[in-house]
Amino acid sequence: MRWVESCGSTNTELMNCTPEDDGRVHVLVAGQQTAGRGRRGRVWLSWPDSCLTFSALWRFAPGAPVPAGLSLVTGLAVAVALEKLGVEGLQLKWPNDVLIHGQKLAGILVELLPGRGRTPAAVIGIGVNRRLPDDVNIPGQAGGVTDLQRELGHTIPAESLLAALLTELHALFETYAAAGFGALRGAWQQRNAFAGLPVTACGDGSTIYGTCAGVDDDGALLIRTDTGLQRVLSGEISLRLAP
Ligand code: BTN
Repeated sequence: MRWVESCGSTNTELMNCTPEDDGRVHVLVAGQQTAGRGRRGRVWLSWPDSCLTFSALWRFAPGAPVPAGLSLVTGLAVAVALEKLGVEGLQLKWPNDVLIHGQKLAGILVELLPGRGRTPAAVIGIGVNRRLPDDVNIPGQAGGVTDLQRELGHTIPAESLLAALLTELHALFETYAAAGFGALRGAWQQRNAFAGLPVTACGDGSTIYGTCAGVDDDGALLIRTDTGLQRVLSGEISLRLAP
């Protein structure tokens, strides 16, 4: 584990300078990121000591079900870890935003390392808002943001938060590797922020309108439309509640 005061992006660092496979999970934590990245080309802003921002390089056994569902399992692990720390009302927005009453508490960026015969590996990047500056306004964040300070009345030390998150990631990744996303699907759906609600999914040059019908065993989003059930697999779409 490396804990640095500041770096560009913990994901970028682990993607570009991937440590050797020594059988351990490599973790890079940054007190602040100067070029934090979010999904779909967005930036992830951070201020000193405001967020826990870290990335873990996770290697999976050959043949493990790496791509499908990994991102959802990560979101679920973050939600379960935070629940165990006393945070209430957590919900997941497909594929992996962690929300409380529609406001974002944590974001996740999962990037797969090109494998070509080697052990499949992923960089799992997680940012949890611990104590954001007052009146923070994050562009492109429709429902707004929240932090642990607001939700609990106090924040959680970064070290305890990191330990809880890594413990839960480890537990759920073991289940996932052994039994696939299907074994965790029920737990994910219990926390689905948009379950049964009208949604629009935009991206890849098309828009799907319908009702959110949960996820399938591959982690694909299911939308019930006038023409039947549609599966959305690409995380590059933007999912919103329909107006
Ligand atoms: C999103 O919500 O769009 C994903 C945000 C992911 C942010 C984390 S912070 C640690 C890691 N390093 C990055 O540059 N991004 C991820």
